[in-house]
Amino acid sequence: MASFSSLTRPLSEFSLISQRLSDQSTNSLGFVNAPSDTTHGLWYFQPGIVKMRSKSSLYFKNSYKTEASTKTNSGIPYEVPILSCSEAIERLSKNRETYKSKEQFLSMYSSVFGGITTDPSAMLIPMDDHMVHRGHGVFDTAAIMDGYLYELDQHLDRFLKSATMAKIKPPFERETIRKILIQTVSASKCRKGSLRYWLSAGPGDFQLSPSGCHQSALYAIVIQNQSPPDYSGIKVVTSSLPIKPPQFAVMKSVNYLPNALSKMEAEEKGAYASIWLDFDGFVAEGPNMNVAFVTKEKELLTPEFDKILSGCTVKRVLALAESLVVNGMLTGIRVDKVTIEEGKAAEEMMLIGSGVLVRSVVEWDEQQIGDGKEGPVAQALRNLILDDMKSGPASVRVPVPY
Ligand SMILES: Cc1ncc(COP(=O)(O)O)c(C=O)c1O
Repeated sequence: MASFSSLTRPLSEFSLISQRLSDQSTNSLGFVNAPSDTTHGLWYFQPGIVKMRSKSSLYFKNSYKTEASTKTNSGIPYEVPILSCSEAIERLSKNRETYKSKEQFLSMYSSVFGGITTDPSAMLIPMDDHMVHRGHGVFDTAAIMDGYLYELDQHLDRFLKSATMAKIKPPFERETIRKILIQTVSASKCRKGSLRYWLSAGPGDFQLSPSGCHQSALYAIVIQNQSPPDYSGIKVVTSSLPIKPPQFAVMKSVNYLPNALSKMEAEEKGAYASIWLDFDGFVAEGPNMNVAFVTKEKELLTPEFDKILSGCTVKRVLALAESLVVNGMLTGIRVDKVTIEEGKAAEEMMLIGSGVLVRSVVEWDEQQIGDGKEGPVAQALRNLILDDMKSGPASVRVPVPY
């Protein structure tokens, strides 16, 4: 395991590694050294595009030039430029300016370069990382609220469980990972946003087995999204795509293709999300959120967690909902199998997750849920979770030292 002090290794150490690799002129991978004018230890692979540059020499395969020559749609020959590291970086940052995103990326940590960068153009992952080309990686999140990380430890526990299931041995101890995540948020100066982090089998080669990966990798990014939250009632549809088998549904791996396709299916049908049923036909979860219902008997009901992701938010909501049982708004809380008929007949249905928090579902497969408006329990639960994020106990709020 690497020590915490080695996380901010000076650039010169990486220069040595890149010098050694770029000396291998037969290597068909571009391997670039960080430009001397950057303070961040950026380096990355990209096959066949970027020149391999060492201090005194510049290598590239001649064949690239002819391979790269191609024609545009109009038939005019187009020569793909061969770029130096600084030219590639310059183009990366110019490219960023060409599209507008609601999200700003404020800081990124990478164990590959052993530090934190605040330059979005340097927020890169090596092409030969097995998370990129084999999906061998896991991830998790935590919300940043008023300078605190919400439920960091709960998410971190799930993150490490996912890593064990994916047979990824983290490069650092839990405590070091935790410190790195907090430092990454601190460097971003972000007080309201989100933290996302990944553990990957690591860079090494383009094989399937991770046996050639020299070290697993940790990445983290702080994202700020300034769009105002939307808590209006939403429509959902039943997903026509199958849910992941339980072994994969319970871990938060980077294999979110079924989730992305299921979200797209919903959007194509004018809905917000698709709801998965499990292989026995019971209600399971959404593509990146859990579901819950308020039954006619005023019970809060959510599906069992054995075949779906164990959502940190829904678990916290279940704990906070006890106060609604005390004040009589709910008669009880139940984690159980939920049939689709039971779900559609519920007084209230809601989506729950760190992204949506608590959001009312007013229509499912074009069938109205309850009275077709946001329900009082969903509203109360959202207020409880928002209060918890702002003033909950120390067990769910980790202060970030800025
Ligand atoms: C498939 C899936 N289910 C449920 C959730 C909700 O989990 P959490 O509340 O921890 O965000 C997520 C979160 O991304 C998810 O991807």
